[in-house]
Amino acid sequence: MKFEDFPTNDAHRILAPRPTVIITTVNKQGQVNAAPFSFIMPVSMNPPLLAFASAPSHHTNKNIEETREFVVNLTPEDILQKMWITGDKIPYGENELEKAGLNGLPSKVVSPPIIQESRANLECKVLQINALGDHNLIIGEVVHASIQPNCIKDGLLDVEKVKPILHLGGTEFVVGDHLRKVE
Ligand SMILES: Cc1cc2nc3c(=O)[nH]c(=O)nc-3n(C[C@H](O)[C@H](O)[C@H](O)COP(=O)(O)O)c2cc1C
Repeated sequence: MKFEDFPTNDAHRILAPRPTVIITTVNKQGQVNAAPFSFIMPVSMNPPLLAFASAPSHHTNKNIEETREFVVNLTPEDILQKMWITGDKIPYGENELEKAGLNGLPSKVVSPPIIQESRANLECKVLQINALGDHNLIIGEVVHASIQPNCIKDGLLDVEKVKPILHLGGTEFVVGDHLRKVE
């Protein structure tokens, strides 16, 4: 089978589907912001570090530069539409969680809220912000993690229960509830 050229600027469309999360932040006034992100990955276990890439123009990026904290919230299938609403462009300072009908709850360690409907959340403090290409790579240390007890199975995320959504591109998402094991 032959290969055909693919636009290099669309490389992220081959590295897909990607876990999609809702990142919550606050600004200096404590106003809450929420937005979906899929350019995200773990980068260290000890200490627990993760990185995600944000366009510098995003309110998320602005808030993180101001307050240096964020929360990564999983997106289960049942809040797919609400996650999509958090991606709408709304005026700075307005709360996408309220617009989407999602409930913010106080985090344990950081100021931005966790999302009740997310099932699991990672509270992070920012270590580094690196300008790279047309995005900023934001590296955070996970300072607290929480998960609803029925969403973990043998120490792993119970994907059949949570049904985390994966972003393929544009408006398309994958929900993989079919488990396959390697021997
Ligand atoms: C599924 C999905 C994934 C996204 N992933 C990213 C991402 O990884 N990085 C990014 O900069 N924007 C991403 N976006 C776009 C932002 O979420 C969107 O522009 C949002 O309005 C930014 O909100 P904010 O200005 O409140 O931070 C994504 C959007 C969607 C719907």
